[in-house]
Amino acid sequence: MRTARFTLDPAFTIGEVNPRLFGSFVEHLGRCVYTGIYEPDHPSADAGGLRTDVLELVRELGVTTIRYPGGNFVSGYKWEDSVGPADERPRRLDLAWRSTETNRFGLSEYIAFLKKIGPQAEPMMALNLGTRGVAEALELQEYANHPSGTALSDLRAAHGDKDPFGIRLWCLGNEMDGPWQTGHKTAEEYGRVAAETARAMRQIDPSVELVACGSSSQGMPTFAAWEATVLAETYDLVDHISLHAYYEPQDGDVDSFLASAVDMESFIENVVATCDHVGAKLKSKKKINLSFDEWNVWYTSEWHAIEDSSARDWPQAPRLLENNYSVMDAVVFGSLLIALLRHADRVTVACLAQLVNVIAPILTEPGGPAWRQTTFFPFAQASRYGRGQVLDVRVDSPTYETKKYGETDLLHATAVRAEDGSVTVFAVNRSRTERLPLEVALNGLELTSVLEHSALADTDPEARNTLDTPDRVTPHPVTDTTLHDGTLSGVLEPLSWNVIRLV
Ligand code: AHR
Repeated sequence: MRTARFTLDPAFTIGEVNPRLFGSFVEHLGRCVYTGIYEPDHPSADAGGLRTDVLELVRELGVTTIRYPGGNFVSGYKWEDSVGPADERPRRLDLAWRSTETNRFGLSEYIAFLKKIGPQAEPMMALNLGTRGVAEALELQEYANHPSGTALSDLRAAHGDKDPFGIRLWCLGNEMDGPWQTGHKTAEEYGRVAAETARAMRQIDPSVELVACGSSSQGMPTFAAWEATVLAETYDLVDHISLHAYYEPQDGDVDSFLASAVDMESFIENVVATCDHVGAKLKSKKKINLSFDEWNVWYTSEWHAIEDSSARDWPQAPRLLENNYSVMDAVVFGSLLIALLRHADRVTVACLAQLVNVIAPILTEPGGPAWRQTTFFPFAQASRYGRGQVLDVRVDSPTYETKKYGETDLLHATAVRAEDGSVTVFAVNRSRTERLPLEVALNGLELTSVLEHSALADTDPEARNTLDTPDRVTPHPVTDTTLHDGTLSGVLEPLSWNVIRLV
């Protein structure tokens, strides 16, 4: 195999990583909330009903911003149902997931959950612009953020939360371009309601940060026109536009699946181009940043079964979308993280969808254990070591042929330089069969040794962590990677996610 090469030079950077790039997402969907993060009867539950075994894993995962309460769920959400004495809260039909929502876990519990994670955890609240609109958004903002002395801020205090929640980051709806969304709108309709809501929210507090809905995927028929129309209405009123993307092998095409980040990178670049086009037309100096607030590997067949199902038995916290991820999935997932880091100049928020049980890095059993999926490891490592300046990495790599993306590099990589000058290289070898030799030239970087090379790879790419074998897959050390005379040399195992730390 030909050697893959790139050069690192601190003079050539992409931008600073925003900690919000390592966000996640908690939706009232399946068992993400109930028996996921919240299970009052669980042996590990704290006084607020939160599972402390899950909290520990969430801290280890290193998540920052957590988007809530949906997703598709939010488009039927009545925030008033989710506050006040828990045993008086109404049970409601959740149209998005054909489930019954008890509202036992609500706004106050969400904020308590974030506090328990630690100071790095920040709220990102989604608003219902499906069945509701400006008035309800303002009421929620007043309830959540106004200090005191008004009906809704005093109601919050009466509910036991004297201090305002201080929610800065708000999503103006969810996937409003999708016909599956309750209250789905055209771009014109949505652009208008998003602008009205944003304008009114800024009347309460001009410092809120607002995310307008972009497309639910790059494949949507309205993609790009949607963004252009929505931004024409909202450009001066919002800070971010959202992107969502999920990947899975289609028709058994594993080679294209391994190259999913090619689509993610082009999606980001196309949205940046659209934002800047609208900005140019408006002669604006302002730049709209990107909130990639749903991304993951997702085997979607079960979702389509829910959509098609005529059975409406409205279960409570059913097992839904509990994908169990393989080593191969984790390698693709790592590559998606690399794609986000490579665009850290414009992607300033990203949320791994989701956090627990539902297409998640953490799985739990009701009354039982919680454990790490294969995808847990790339996320935890990227969040831990991917802080600082992203260096501009341009690879010269052997390639392979894919049906969807044509000739594609086998190596996908990025590198982040921390404040102390140390550098971490994140690299994926997409080859299913071949080891990939790697050489990195280090220019102007005072680095002398390899502190660690960790790899996630396995002789069985289908290996996974399950209830019975929760530690079957973990990253392993690679010992023969060297740094001599400014050149890093190593070999990447077939189908592997690699973290190489240089000091
Ligand atoms: O994350 C699962 C679902 O995917 C979300 O509810 C929705 O926004 C998206 O379609």
